[in-house]
Amino acid sequence: MVFFRSVAALSRLRSRLVQQPSLSSSVRWLQIQSGSEIDLHSQLKEMIPEQQERLKKLKTEYGKTQLGNITVDMVLGGMRGMTGLLWETSLLDPEEGIRFRGLSIPECQKVLPAAVDGGEPLPEGLLWLLLTGKVPNKEQVNALSKELQSRAKIPDHVYKAIDALPKTSHPMTQFATGVMALQVGSEFQKAYEKGIHKSKYWEPTYEDSLNLIAQLPAVASYIYRRIYKDGKTIPSDDSLDYGANFSHMLGFDDPKMQELMRLYVTIHTDHEGGNVSAHTAHLVASALSDPYLSFTAALNGLAGPLHGLANQEVLLWIKSVVDECGENMSTEQLKEYVWKTLNSGKVVPGFGHGVLRKTDPRYMCQREFALKHLPDDPLFQLVSKLYEVVPPILTELGKVKNPWPNVDAHSGVLLNHFGLTEARYFTVLFGVSRSIGVCSQLVWDRALGLPLERPKSVTMEWLENYCKKTA
Ligand SMILES: CC(C)(COP(=O)(O)OP(=O)(O)OC[C@H]1O[C@@H](n2cnc3c(N)ncnc32)[C@H](O)[C@@H]1OP(=O)(O)O)[C@@H](O)C(=O)NCCC(=O)NCCS
Repeated sequence: MVFFRSVAALSRLRSRLVQQPSLSSSVRWLQIQSGSEIDLHSQLKEMIPEQQERLKKLKTEYGKTQLGNITVDMVLGGMRGMTGLLWETSLLDPEEGIRFRGLSIPECQKVLPAAVDGGEPLPEGLLWLLLTGKVPNKEQVNALSKELQSRAKIPDHVYKAIDALPKTSHPMTQFATGVMALQVGSEFQKAYEKGIHKSKYWEPTYEDSLNLIAQLPAVASYIYRRIYKDGKTIPSDDSLDYGANFSHMLGFDDPKMQELMRLYVTIHTDHEGGNVSAHTAHLVASALSDPYLSFTAALNGLAGPLHGLANQEVLLWIKSVVDECGENMSTEQLKEYVWKTLNSGKVVPGFGHGVLRKTDPRYMCQREFALKHLPDDPLFQLVSKLYEVVPPILTELGKVKNPWPNVDAHSGVLLNHFGLTEARYFTVLFGVSRSIGVCSQLVWDRALGLPLERPKSVTMEWLENYCKKTA
């Protein structure tokens, strides 16, 4: 059985882990390989009682332990720095970036099975990792690929619901409509109506989650072909993995584009629980709304320009730079354009982050992909130039907490290079990927019996009075 792509890669990784004590949590995960069981559902079923006990113990032993103080700034500042959510699938370190179940992106690239030797990880492998916390082997990932294929049927009414919208409506509006229409098939809703016992909630949530993840590429590619390719759809190819098949249904069969799609879908899955899309799904699902209802809500958050829509904004902004300054612009011209954007009261899309305080590792792995596959692409070269020009300007502004590029600063030029040039569509790709992280956590939300989310809100008057009293 092949657990790792190559023994050499594993020993390289191990020596790195030994040298870096901060990566010790990863060692734990690397030691936990999935067994030979290829059925994901059975693996989860086995794990759940142990995790329920763990949560119970945490509550009993440490329930009253304080995690920090809440300040007025936090309440007025979008709850920044306020720890308030349990999210098992990933954890974001401001300096280091995301870890999926303890594994950084470079580590995932090394240990998760790939379609091509030494290539990008298969998103199905990450789904397995997020759900179980264990690194799957190739056989397990292949079985999961097949299982997703078997769950990918789309009822006709879904296409009709999308077709009821004008083709000019934003692709994210069409996508959210399609997902809402899929909700008709929710297993959770059916089970709830039949009076399912709460200890079993996770099972139909798992069914809905896997079905939804499986169905999204077909819905998303239908929307792409409907808007941009005269409605000529391309049937699924069951011999392909999730990422490659998605690329195929969109109309891109270049093996490099397939690799890009695998990377793209893998890195956009999850970014801990507090970001707008993940938090929204978790909040809505806490009312026992099923995964379709919860994920549609998440998509509506993702469609905001400060969140997922930034990937669309970045490519449009980069193209506006080229339109105004020409392809061979000087550094001075570029700086002037950045200042012009800021002085007109806009943000520089693709830079900054609510939590990260360094260059996003999701940006770095896309940069590495570009250096490997498209080093001479003029827009990639412009992205590289922006990496030098923008951070000092944002720092000079004096208020931006993180001047470095995020995931969205890079993705558009990669897609554009392989012919997926329609920027308005990009956030749909992000949405397909985000379902993997969000739905994995939703399964655990129900397995752990997490409660209805209900934070306390106050008025300005309440805050003023409280602060005067305590001053
Ligand atoms: C991501 C983002 C919303 C985080 O917001 P945040 O947590 O409030 O960030 P900060 O605390 O650093 O914001 C402080 C100030 O700097 C500004 N700022 C942050 N990033 C900026 C950017 N890229 N361009 C211009 N101004 C920016 C904020 O708008 C805010 O200004 P204000 O006080 O006048 O309202 C913000 O960085 C942004 O708008 N980036 C561009 C959009 C983007 O790329 N989104 C995708 C994120 S993955």
